[in-house]
Amino acid sequence: MNRTVIRGGLVVTAADEIHADVLVEDGRVAALAAHGTEAAEGFRAENTVDATGKYVIPGGVDGHTHMEMPFGGTFASDTFETGTRAAAWGGTTTVIDFAIQSKGGSLSEGLDTWHGKADGRCAIDYGFHMIMSDVNESSLKEMDRLVEAGVSSFKLFTAYPGVFLSDDGQILRAMQRAASNGGLVMTHAENGLAIDVLVEQALARGERDPRYHGEVRRALLEAEATHRVIRLSQVAGAPLYVVHVSAREALAELTRARDEGLPVFGETCPQYLFLSTDNLAEPDFDGAKYVCSTPLRPKDHQEALWRGLRTDDLQVVSTDHCPFCFKGQKEMGRGDFSRIPNGMPGVENRMDLLHQAVVEGHISRRRWIDLACAAPARMFGLYPKKGTIAPGADADIVIYDPHAEQIMSARTHHMNVDYSAYEGKRVTGRVETVLSRGVPVIENRAYVGHAGHGTYLPRGLCQYAD
Ligand code: URP
Ligand code: ZN
Ligand code: ZN
Ligand code: ZN
Repeated sequence: MNRTVIRGGLVVTAADEIHADVLVEDGRVAALAAHGTEAAEGFRAENTVDATGKYVIPGGVDGHTHMEMPFGGTFASDTFETGTRAAAWGGTTTVIDFAIQSKGGSLSEGLDTWHGKADGRCAIDYGFHMIMSDVNESSLKEMDRLVEAGVSSFKLFTAYPGVFLSDDGQILRAMQRAASNGGLVMTHAENGLAIDVLVEQALARGERDPRYHGEVRRALLEAEATHRVIRLSQVAGAPLYVVHVSAREALAELTRARDEGLPVFGETCPQYLFLSTDNLAEPDFDGAKYVCSTPLRPKDHQEALWRGLRTDDLQVVSTDHCPFCFKGQKEMGRGDFSRIPNGMPGVENRMDLLHQAVVEGHISRRRWIDLACAAPARMFGLYPKKGTIAPGADADIVIYDPHAEQIMSARTHHMNVDYSAYEGKRVTGRVETVLSRGVPVIENRAYVGHAGHGTYLPRGLCQYAD
């Protein structure tokens, strides 16, 4: 038996804060006991981790990443190897990435392709959602098999015409199928057809800089699509999860639906909480670093998002990590913002940025852990194996120093991308040690993990929807 005891820390979960020692046996949490008690003194282990003055928190669960994702003629620059290693550096021990069904292809072919990219290469555990870009009789039937096999969530798009967009009828059909097989439909909600008209008109006027990406992808068009998918899900009788909510008006649609008692859920991302259209307007094409969809919004949307996170109208903070290097990738869109690959790096920064939100008083410490660990684990059928520290849970545990100061920078981060979206940002708090199923991956700020430690996670059903 391989045993570790973590002594002296403050264990923070979504539900509790307790000064307790944690005993880990064979990769799982075996027991917790208050410091200095007879039970804690009785914990016997070969390895001891001193967590005095530190937080002992569940490893982060990032429910939205895109390693090696093909987009606009290039690929997201983090592989499963580099991206999951960077995730571990940032205190995340589970990622759920998106396998993609290609047009004319099947869901299972898409899933096989993504297993081919990820299997044997990940530093931490991983699962998959399925992007459906071709809803038809056969892919609808396949959804049932995927749910049974542990791919229990399906992303559909009202955006990106000709690439990922599904029409309302296709979305309704997928939702009806999910209503019967227990799957969770996730939507990227922006009116892509209307946006394409505005893109064309902007380019014709000579509006070519990155900031126009934010202007044409209007908040109202996010709100309209959010309203539409909510009502479609209501008609289908299916739960709904709206990814990367950035506009105050879209959040208002979610709030209204939740007030009506509908099982609709929402996610936002650190970039919408900490960055804004001011970044998209940075000179010398630097704004391209912040091009993602949904786009960054004017600063005054941030307070609404923070409020939504506090009131539980938004349940999850994921990264939508989809990095493209400035040199050679973002630069593809010089002179035409519509050719800038969409996506931003962040898988390494999420836990720290949300801790900074605790420091700044936006959310409580327990809410931090809920948004970043417990809620995504529940949402995507991984709880309590992932997302908490309790007997029987996987020993995915982070020793977090809440007082250490750091400055975020591309010079020191571990993501395979040549810029940081948070370059120069000072935050308080830093990951010190990370265990994945009891095995050290980061030890006192050194990487001691390896590609292939991470195992594939077949997932259960959404644990919010019943
Ligand atoms: O800009 C983004 N978000 N790129 C990744 C793909 C998506 O829509 O989530
Ligand atoms: Zn203590
Ligand atoms: Zn999306
Ligand atoms: Zn995404």
